[in-house]
Amino acid sequence: MKVLIIGGGGREHALAWKLSQSPRVKKLHAAPGNAGIAQVSECRPVSAEDLPGLLALAKELKADLTVVGPDNPLAMGLVDLLQQHGFRAFGPSASAARFESSKVFAKEFMARHGIPTAKFGSFADSGEAQKFAQTIHGPCVVKADGLALGKGVIICQSPRDSALAISQMMDKKVFGAAGERVIIEEFMQGEEASIHALLDGKTYKLFPSSQDNKRVGDNDTGPNTGGMGTISPVPMVSSALMQTVEEKILKPFLRGCAADGLEYRGLLYPGLMLTREGPKVLEFNARFGDPETQVLMMRLESDLIDALEAVVDGRLADTTLKFRREAAVCVVMSSGGYPGDYAKGKPIRGLDDAAKLPDAQVFHAGTRRSGNDIVTAGGRVLGVTALGADLRAARERAYDAVARISFDGAHCRKDIGGRALRFMESNPGSECKA
Ligand SMILES: Nc1ncnc2c1ncn2[C@@H]1O[C@H](COP(=O)(O)OP(=O)(O)O)[C@@H](O)[C@H]1O
Ligand SMILES: [Mg+2]
Repeated sequence: MKVLIIGGGGREHALAWKLSQSPRVKKLHAAPGNAGIAQVSECRPVSAEDLPGLLALAKELKADLTVVGPDNPLAMGLVDLLQQHGFRAFGPSASAARFESSKVFAKEFMARHGIPTAKFGSFADSGEAQKFAQTIHGPCVVKADGLALGKGVIICQSPRDSALAISQMMDKKVFGAAGERVIIEEFMQGEEASIHALLDGKTYKLFPSSQDNKRVGDNDTGPNTGGMGTISPVPMVSSALMQTVEEKILKPFLRGCAADGLEYRGLLYPGLMLTREGPKVLEFNARFGDPETQVLMMRLESDLIDALEAVVDGRLADTTLKFRREAAVCVVMSSGGYPGDYAKGKPIRGLDDAAKLPDAQVFHAGTRRSGNDIVTAGGRVLGVTALGADLRAARERAYDAVARISFDGAHCRKDIGGRALRFMESNPGSECKA
């Protein structure tokens, strides 16, 4: 079959890499793709947000399945559009993608269906939001309702901070329409974890746990980024905890959708805070995480195309996802200055050398080809990913591969997986399998 992948980041390279191994995928295309995706598929220069252009491309290629990577095209209704024209597409409809594109929608759904999440208020009026915020003493979190490029969440230490955050979002409209409504919620403490599940409207299948590192600097310092590295599995997520996630989050999610007349087909990735009272949902994402996908695809043993088709066709119950027992670690190499301003067009050296390491895979995020070179073209440049017998081995191999690669101004965190290893040392027996 012919598959078209929408997007051009590390997540899409990992999906394309995995799909390219399927004997059932005869031809793989990507729009717009990047230099790494181009090694396994044919890239077309159509933006992931150009809906008419993507529909025309699906028609031209006679794509049997279109896999939508990023959140924006989902929220804009790309899956709906393709389906209206008779094309099969993987990803939720725009209406179901509201779990990610509207935090107010997601929180109200969780409140209605008893899914554990931080206590909150939602506001469309800045005066009311201000009044509520002044009643909160300790820290709180102010969140813009809509998609805000990962910048719409502000952790506030005092009523003064929250007053400022609310006025920025609601009065000054720094996030445009995304800030017309806000959530103000309780601050939670704990370890974060990402849970990925495929849903076909009736049932779900889980991926192993994973964990991202959002801050740019070691020991979680500096500003937030799109994600600087991931591990899977997460030793803090025991199998008992995974069971709680199924009982308290995924099953009520499906029941809630049925009660509300919503159908969710695609990948659902709840971001969790593991609090002392149990796991609570920070947010829902309506697509694969980036860079979580990089570690999950390394561990996925069964054919990805079978799983994606089962979701689209509503036959997930008959499908099994098989995973390797090995652990995986992904270390992101970013451009110097990211998430602020950074230079582009820097030649990347050592990719071939890194590719020689067994069980290591360099996924491209922001790269492009320039003559004979592969050069940097984004903030996050590469997701250097490796498998190993356990987290320690995977981490060593990932950093071995990183050491072979260089470009001007390259930055990476040196501590990906470090907290997990310390946790395992102080909790013998926590070595988790999923
Ligand atoms: N209630 C909360 N308590 C503590 N930290 C939070 C809370 N809500 C969000 N955060 C922090 O902010 C990050 C981003 O919030 P999230 O809801 O995931 O929004 P988005 O990914 O859309 O920016 C989280 O990963 C977490 O670190
Ligand atoms: Mg998040």
